[in-house]
Amino acid sequence: MRTPFVAGNWKMNKTVAEARELVSIMGVGLKAVKGVEKVICPPFTSLLAVANLLGGTDIGLGAQNMHWEEKGAFTGEVAPAMVKEFCKYVILGHSERRQYFGETDQTVNKRVLAAQKNGIIPIVCVGETLDENKAGQTAEVVRRQTLGALQGVEADFAPSLVIAYEPVWAIGTGLASSGENAQLVHGQIRALLAELFGQAAADKIRILYGGSVTGANAAEFFSQPDIDGALVGGASLKDDFIAIAEAASK
Ligand code: 13P
Repeated sequence: MRTPFVAGNWKMNKTVAEARELVSIMGVGLKAVKGVEKVICPPFTSLLAVANLLGGTDIGLGAQNMHWEEKGAFTGEVAPAMVKEFCKYVILGHSERRQYFGETDQTVNKRVLAAQKNGIIPIVCVGETLDENKAGQTAEVVRRQTLGALQGVEADFAPSLVIAYEPVWAIGTGLASSGENAQLVHGQIRALLAELFGQAAADKIRILYGGSVTGANAAEFFSQPDIDGALVGGASLKDDFIAIAEAASK
């Protein structure tokens, strides 16, 4: 019912030349994977080059962040209309944005509403820190972040949303969550989405797991009923990303 979704978040990696090289190495293998929505999220500076290489393929593009204002005196920021020139998707509220760049539930919400207004699909990231996890606050934190990010989202836009559950302690650590633990949180997120938008819409929303996903552990996540794909960091910079997409197609 939900098409599996695999997105590669390149984070702050790859120059234009390196991005071209990576896409030409991975492109063929990735294109061969069917029945999965595949998305690459390079840095802004490589969007044009990657868009040119991927034009006419079934591999989509996403940005890693976006400002909420339409234009103006916001030095260093990128506006929704600029993102839309290249991207169907935008990652919003990634924990690295929250942790290092002061993003809050409120500013994530502004970005989500700007995405809605501009017809860009947000990949909204939520997830608890290690301390919050240890304190047993996972459900509460994920609920607060999800509610905060989605305030004002309209019912007709909701089904296209993508949510990514990324426990902060699992990001870049090699310590992935277990399929079972992630499923518990994904189930809670879907129940919350049903509260907000109704069950039919909630059943259409893709909920991705992110945090040390590899070709070796991907199947464990994708076999869970409420895990619809992955948001991949480190492994999206190598061939392993193809193995993850293949696991999602099974
Ligand atoms: P890693 O896959 O490197 O753990 O990163 C996950 C992530 O943050 C994707 O957005």
